[in-house]
Amino acid sequence: MTPGQIRDYLKYYRDLGIETIYRGTPPSTQPLPTLPVPPVMAKKPIQEAILPELTRLPELIPQGDTLAKIREDIGDCKRCRLCEARNKIVFGDGNESSPLVFVGEGPGADEDAQGIPFVGRAGQLLTQMIENTAAKEGIQLKRADVYICNVVKCRPPENRTPQPDEMEICGQFLFRQLMTIKPKAICVLGATAMKALLNTKEGITKSRGQWQKWRDIPVMVTYHPSYLLRQYNAQAKREAWEDLKTLLHFVYD
Ligand code: URA
Repeated sequence: MTPGQIRDYLKYYRDLGIETIYRGTPPSTQPLPTLPVPPVMAKKPIQEAILPELTRLPELIPQGDTLAKIREDIGDCKRCRLCEARNKIVFGDGNESSPLVFVGEGPGADEDAQGIPFVGRAGQLLTQMIENTAAKEGIQLKRADVYICNVVKCRPPENRTPQPDEMEICGQFLFRQLMTIKPKAICVLGATAMKALLNTKEGITKSRGQWQKWRDIPVMVTYHPSYLLRQYNAQAKREAWEDLKTLLHFVYD
């Protein structure tokens, strides 16, 4: 690879949010180290699996990317261990040209069974929050008018928090979804989505309610609806409604 190609390559990954690239000598002189990979991926030697990819530079935004193409690229994904226990890949739901996208953490049991994000208890709360806040604020908006997706597309076992490698692998598809939709604003629900998009170590309590940016797109951070369900926390509920009000006025006024 020429220095220019290497520069483009690194820029491509940086734009995808991948900051750590491991250096190594060319594969002809020293084989790539065998990385710890989940059993499903281990069937294929890692060198063989990634080398063809390393020889060509993927385009930053694949030309003419569409949600359908992204879903097709995900395929019957076996890129990480989350494939082992999943029933359905949960890609996204709603208006594909919405000016507003909500990003959650990952599917739960109901979502895994139906293949649709935010359909369980937390999802019902999210739907109510969107529709009731909009109605109170005089904004005509139904859940179907926005787009909803998650950082990881497969249910983590026991609903555990997705691990960094799972978020990095699946995050590339989330980034492509967001780049394709190009919404006017993104609403990040909870700490995992905040970490995936904003790469911050700040806590959710500090970051919520403030405008941030992912690329050039304004991002509003708020509590995850399952946090609001978990304990009766009137203060957090009030704050989440406030965040949503600010967000909806910004997008729809
Ligand atoms: N929690 C999430 O983060 N996403 C879902 O789709 C459901 C619950």
